[in-house]
Amino acid sequence: MNALATHRGYTLQRATLRDVWKIRQLEKIVFPKDAYPVLEIIMLILAPISRNYKMVAPNGDMAGFISGTVGTAGRPGWIITLGVNPQHQRQGLGRFLLDWCERELQAEHIRLTVRAGNMAAYTLYAETGYTDVRRRRSYYRDGEDGIEMEKALNPPSIPPSSHLPRVS
Ligand SMILES: CC(C)(COP(=O)(O)OP(=O)(O)OC[C@H]1O[C@@H](n2cnc3c(N)ncnc32)[C@H](O)[C@@H]1OP(=O)(O)O)[C@@H](O)C(=O)NCCC(=O)NCCS
Repeated sequence: MNALATHRGYTLQRATLRDVWKIRQLEKIVFPKDAYPVLEIIMLILAPISRNYKMVAPNGDMAGFISGTVGTAGRPGWIITLGVNPQHQRQGLGRFLLDWCERELQAEHIRLTVRAGNMAAYTLYAETGYTDVRRRRSYYRDGEDGIEMEKALNPPSIPPSSHLPRVS
């Protein structure tokens, strides 16, 4: 099972190629307008600079998924996608995945882009220390604006080896 951590009975694990189909199903549920296609999910999993984690429910369902890219040469790390199945939302899984992934990205700054109208995600990001950087007009395919946000990590990075399995 290779659990990296647990939270309320859910286990945090690294996502691998075996998870592509389940990630695709989750993406379709949480991003009905612009779910990542299978090929892009495979590329996320395989990219050496990406870090991919899933939250697994006690019954084995994939409750959540996050993907981020590490910060290289002083550039910010990026959160690429984050989704929690509606059946498992509001239990702290989004916050937990975000916190874990941020620390694995080894960057002084983390950036992401969120739909201007996505209040759930915007609130999560604002509450966890992200602030607006700029508004990207018609960033999404359907014309909605994106808000680029950034968080400074202090201390900048905690080596992955310092992660001990934790229970909360
Ligand atoms: C955004 C998302 C990942 C949050 O996941 P989650 O597991 O429900 O979030 P958490 O339970 O960790 O919530 C953490 C905080 O975020 C905020 N939040 C989460 N959902 C919210 C909602 N629907 N409305 C308002 N605030 C919300 C709250 O401040 C919450 O803290 P609280 O529960 O103590 O009030 C989830 O709603 C989701 O997958 N949405 C669809 C996909 C998406 O928008 N992804 C982000 C793309 S940028």
